[in-house]
Amino acid sequence: MKITMIGTGYVGLVSGACFSDLGNDVTCLDIDEEKINNLRAGKIPIYEPGLKEIVQRNANEGRLTFSTSYEDAIAGREVVFICVGTPQLPSGKADLKYIFQAAESIAKHINNFTVVVQKSTVPVGTAKRIEGIIRSKTSVDFEIVSNPEFLKEGAAVKDFQNPDRIIIGTESERAKKVIENLYRPHSRVNRPILFMKRETAELVKYASNAMLATRISFMNALTPFCEKTGADIKEVAKGMGLDGRIGPRFLQASPGYGGSCFPKDVRAIIDFLESSQVNAQFFRAIDQLNEFHKKSHLNRIRKFVPELKDKKIAIWGLSFKPRTDDVRESASLTLIEQLLEQGANVSAYDPEAIENTKKVFPNIEYSQNPYEAVNAANAVVVMTEWDVFRSIDLNKVKELMLEKNIIDCRNIYDPAEIKSLGFNYAGVGR
Ligand code: UGA
Repeated sequence: MKITMIGTGYVGLVSGACFSDLGNDVTCLDIDEEKINNLRAGKIPIYEPGLKEIVQRNANEGRLTFSTSYEDAIAGREVVFICVGTPQLPSGKADLKYIFQAAESIAKHINNFTVVVQKSTVPVGTAKRIEGIIRSKTSVDFEIVSNPEFLKEGAAVKDFQNPDRIIIGTESERAKKVIENLYRPHSRVNRPILFMKRETAELVKYASNAMLATRISFMNALTPFCEKTGADIKEVAKGMGLDGRIGPRFLQASPGYGGSCFPKDVRAIIDFLESSQVNAQFFRAIDQLNEFHKKSHLNRIRKFVPELKDKKIAIWGLSFKPRTDDVRESASLTLIEQLLEQGANVSAYDPEAIENTKKVFPNIEYSQNPYEAVNAANAVVVMTEWDVFRSIDLNKVKELMLEKNIIDCRNIYDPAEIKSLGFNYAGVGR
């Protein structure tokens, strides 16, 4: 099929590359000329396992092309995906200006029946608004379909290839046939495709992210309970997760959830409910709990290093989770800011996210490896569960550190083992 992806961020680039890998003829369109030139030269703007190989292979074989021209990328296509960003406005609302700009450009250039697929996360009712914009500007036939994206950063290619489900919002039989054709490689291997009303599809996305954020905040809210009573949150999660009604996933206590999705989507629900004069207390609590929890790690450090001024604190992990270089809403940023306020010296190491963190904190010390970061440090804080920290040589770490304090905000170590090596240990909720 002939497909165009508008927007070459995570969603657009990963989906576009993967659709081309299934044999479609895909154009990835972006107004950012530098980005498109880099992509043409094989330079991928994000770190995502497996993506580079897929982009290069399909570009070389001519199925994947990059363009900055709406005119070239829209005319003659069967499916056009809108995958542009919906950043959060200060009010918590999603900013839809890029979506509506894309709709205007589609209206200008479509010349045959086109299924326009809204993939970015958008407030319920947006697909209808996009339809209104395009309808008012063209007489060419088209359908707007909602197809929310459930890719996880760091596992996006795998998630595209093996989705738990594909959600399609449309009541048009004509659009349904096109979409069924497009996702045939998925339905052939029994991946469920659910068709529903557009508004319902739009809400499935927000509700799924908010539920996952709720599970994490629920567990993080129990961590002080565990710390006061001697219970271990990791074992609590295991015990709960074996209940088939609860399930084991997304129950890991952590420094707090981050990234470009959970915080934004929970706040978008709050904004929608409050601006409709509906009680949003439940969702507000999820958001507030997370913000409060992200700030609680300073006290875990203070247990061992009461006075932080001029002390050296090593941070292991800057990205909001492993296998990504994304630091948006990462708990590490909150902690670094607090440490700097206390006059501490911060040395940080992350396998992928140093460049992005430098944009926020240009003046802290960045290390080449985890060992350099802990050299002469008074404490080390594990903020992201990268594999390199799991397999670290702790005897070497001990020799390098000035004071032997480990604060494990991802609970990746065995507390008894760490203590037996001569460290002080604090986890989250244990
Ligand atoms: C999330 C959803 O998982 C995707 O399904 C969705 O498509 C995406 O948002 C989106 O809306 O685009 P993502 O933000 O990439 O994906 O990351 P997750 O793997 O879901 O992790 C989010 C945060 O929760 C991370 O900070 C992670 O460390 C934290 N987390 C996750 C926990 O604290 N505990 C857990 O048990 C699991």
